[in-house]
Amino acid sequence: MRKPAAVVLTSTAALIAALGLVACGGGDSGSSGGSSSAPTTEQSGAAPADEGQTIFVQNCGTCHTLSAAGTDGNVGPNLDSAGADYEEVRSQVINGGGGMPVFEGVLTDAQIDAVSKYVAENAGK
Ligand code: HEC
Repeated sequence: MRKPAAVVLTSTAALIAALGLVACGGGDSGSSGGSSSAPTTEQSGAAPADEGQTIFVQNCGTCHTLSAAGTDGNVGPNLDSAGADYEEVRSQVINGGGGMPVFEGVLTDAQIDAVSKYVAENAGK
């Protein structure tokens, strides 16, 4: 039984290699193992919240005010005071209606998910 040392060494090396790749920002070719590919900002492992903000600013901000995102659109309701939770935002984004476009098929499921979480978590902040 003298395996453990080798196992520990191997996994440590793998971990270091993985960390090194992430820290360097790699290319976009290596993004096979993680988050469901969203081709927006590929800088240093952008957190979902940042991605949600980018999507919001690009797709929603012209119509909606959300101070966390710095947008001041006034075609649709002010999302800081709408008080919509994740499910409400998500279904509105998917289905549109009442003057709001349908985003299903425009944004990927992952993008709809990210932007809905972003709105639900940042409204009123
Ligand atoms: C072309 C303008 C426009 C765009 C772009 C737009 N919306 Fe809307 N949105 C509206 C309008 C108008 C309403 C009001 C719909 C209604 O009253 O039925 C609305 C309603 C909403 C609501 C419901 C608010 C409430 O009072 O509960 C949410 C949440 C929402 N939008 C989120 C988004 C998100 C997230 C995006 C981007 C993916 C987006 N909207 C893009 C115009 C827009």
